[in-house]
Amino acid sequence: MLLALASLKAAPGVTTAAVALASVWPQPEVVLVEADPDGGSLVTRFDLPADGPGLTSLAAAGRHRLSRQLVAEHVQTLPGGLAAIPTSPAPGQAAAAVAALARPLGEQLAGTPEVTAIADCGRLSAGSPARPLADAADLLVLVCRPRLEELRLALARLEERPPPTRVGLLLTGGGYSVAEVDRLFGDRVAVGVVGSLPDDPRTARALADRTATPRDLRRSPLIRHARSLAERLSDLLAVQTARSA
Ligand SMILES: Nc1ncnc2c1ncn2[C@@H]1O[C@H](COP(=O)(O)OP(=O)(O)OP(=O)(O)O)[C@@H](O)[C@H]1O
Ligand SMILES: [Mg+2]
Repeated sequence: MLLALASLKAAPGVTTAAVALASVWPQPEVVLVEADPDGGSLVTRFDLPADGPGLTSLAAAGRHRLSRQLVAEHVQTLPGGLAAIPTSPAPGQAAAAVAALARPLGEQLAGTPEVTAIADCGRLSAGSPARPLADAADLLVLVCRPRLEELRLALARLEERPPPTRVGLLLTGGGYSVAEVDRLFGDRVAVGVVGSLPDDPRTARALADRTATPRDLRRSPLIRHARSLAERLSDLLAVQTARSA
């Protein structure tokens, strides 16, 4: 099962949301896939060796065929216990790995119902190499701040090129309310606003520099919201899977 997260503008907190969601996901079989062509954050944030298992090693090994077993071999456990496929922080290397893998990896992850893959697709510009991965997702969540210019851009992009998959919006920080944004988008996004994450810089920073684990942070506003968001997304994915079965 594949849940893709992406932004359209600025840096609204896609990586933070992906890490938080994977950390509190209701099912145990979950893997965080870093597919940001502008370069990953996990190697730096978790101080991982640059040549460890990840998207670059998977792209080299899976040039001809991408089996489920091969994907599993390039997953590593991050300090704190999260299973992840990190990508290189170097934009050129990251973009090359994403370009090589987006289509076959998207198919592979979407076709594996027992594992939930949460993919951080970074900023999804029109020509992004991560597009085939986002297009293959069972659900694409566009992360945006509920501000007029970001919402207008999201509306324009959705009208310009409606994604072939179901799309929901995740709002981060303050601005328009969930109900107001839901009204603004009407039925242009299949599942509307899937939820919101509060402005919580302390927890976002702690998640990024590993000064605390999600367990230490479980009472924080960000992790508490992430928990109910994860439940809702997991339900939406289950409905999707049941429909396509
Ligand atoms: N819910 C939040 N509350 C407060 N600050 C946040 C929140 N989420 C993220 N941030 C902060 O915003 C900045 C960007 O976050 P993050 O790296 O998650 O965004 P991104 O959308 O993945 O950006 P990029 O496009 O650069 O990959 C970071 O400094 C992070 O700590
Ligand atoms: Mg990011």
